[in-house]
Amino acid sequence: MAEKIVVASGKGGVGKTSLTVGIGKALHKMGKRVLIIDCDILRSVDLLTGITENLLYDWGDVILERCEAEAAIYPSADVAVMTCPTDYDGITENDMKELLRSLEDDFDYILLDAPAGIGRGFRLAFAGADRGLVVSTADMVCVRSACRAADVMYSAGMTDVRLIINRIMKKDIKKGRLLNIDTVIDSTQVQLIGVVPEDAKIRLGAMGKSIYKKGQVSYLPLTNIAARICGEYIALTL
Ligand SMILES: Nc1ncnc2c1ncn2[C@@H]1O[C@H](COP(=O)(O)OP(=O)(O)OP(=O)(O)O)[C@@H](O)[C@H]1O
Ligand SMILES: [Mg+2]
Repeated sequence: MAEKIVVASGKGGVGKTSLTVGIGKALHKMGKRVLIIDCDILRSVDLLTGITENLLYDWGDVILERCEAEAAIYPSADVAVMTCPTDYDGITENDMKELLRSLEDDFDYILLDAPAGIGRGFRLAFAGADRGLVVSTADMVCVRSACRAADVMYSAGMTDVRLIINRIMKKDIKKGRLLNIDTVIDSTQVQLIGVVPEDAKIRLGAMGKSIYKKGQVSYLPLTNIAARICGEYIALTL
């Protein structure tokens, strides 16, 4: 039965989608069956997984009974993807829970890529999730939003929320241009699951290049996060 994990951040543009795709690919490499559900009406998971052709149906169509779930699940080279409807009209949190229940036997992990903010799209994204990953960059603005996003999930009854600090640059931490890791953890009050460095290869994901490839600086950090998600103990090294 799939574990359902929402990836959220509050603040936009911190790397939720990139890390969802990277972690999804890393989980696939570990032999897991992975479905990524794009919960952002602005949609980008299809672009980052290279499945932009012939996308007829989205998960909204499944919920509103316009197609079977299989018709809205698009395979990529590694992960499977469901795209987001263009609005959330007529979709409730219970619908999301029901949708996930109907899919959970076919996958080991279902990753839900939340939109920015803590509004309706975010609430729909985490409604049926078992666990949460909160992504923050190491600056005060993102840390505050990550903290808010985590609080909303805790208040809704989610107990397992973990922090990923993204786009770390050691040089900038030393020079005081980024917060250090301990400060981010202390400020968000969320337990760390991994740190991902600034990586030009991830940036190129937005141009259709692979986000997860051996040799790139974020390969091992993403692999380690995936392994920790699967319950492996791997020490954090920076
Ligand atoms: N570790 C990283 N190194 C370099 N660039 C990164 C990294 N993580 C994300 N980016 C870049 O940051 C930008 C925003 O990333 P992404 O779209 O994944 O963020 P997001 O949180 O999903 O945004 P939104 O809130 O708009 O959905 C993209 O250009 C992406 O390539
Ligand atoms: Mg995104």
